[in-house]
Amino acid sequence: MSDPHDDHSTFIKTPKQLIVAVVAFFAVVILLPVMFSQLVTAGRKAEPSEEQTARLILPVARVELAAGGGAAAVKGAKTGEQVVTAVCGACHTGGVAGAPKTGDNAAWAPRLALGLDGLTKSAIAGKNAMPPRGGGADLTDAEIARAIAFMTNKSGANFKEPPVETAAAPAK
Ligand code: HEC
Repeated sequence: MSDPHDDHSTFIKTPKQLIVAVVAFFAVVILLPVMFSQLVTAGRKAEPSEEQTARLILPVARVELAAGGGAAAVKGAKTGEQVVTAVCGACHTGGVAGAPKTGDNAAWAPRLALGLDGLTKSAIAGKNAMPPRGGGADLTDAEIARAIAFMTNKSGANFKEPPVETAAAPAK
């Protein structure tokens, strides 16, 4: 008894449809509070202040930052893990082109003597088969240092990964 018009099947069948659905979802999540604020303030004041609008949409902006993805990601705010996943892992996860492999303590041991600062300088400058900044030209120095701490701490080191400064953090 199969009905050709099965209303209960999901309409999201392709990755493209999923993206459209996600974008539509965020549009609704962002637009609804803005429209609501205008409704509420319309009775009292003629126009909602930009500050009120900004405050209303701020939680949504924060969530997107925390998710770490999307075009809205703030420069310099990637964690070591995110940088390694996006850039460094291409060589360092599998030990490509003679790169010291993440988790290979013996390969990293002689390099760890440079310290986190020394290794960061080395990676920023590039070394032999490794291009400057590991090829991640838009990475900040702090992101490089976080990535190195993340990789080396899995490879016998005990460095402190420099914290990510977020908009929510108090200034100093
Ligand atoms: C194209 C491949 C490649 C990518 C991508 C890459 N590396 Fe490397 N990396 C290497 C190779 C090869 C070496 C070994 C260089 C040598 O000692 O000859 C190396 C060495 C290093 C070293 C040790 C440097 C030293 O002085 O001993 C650090 C630290 C490092 N990489 C960090 C990173 C970071 C952080 C990233 C990502 C931002 C990254 N690498 C991306 C290939 C790569």
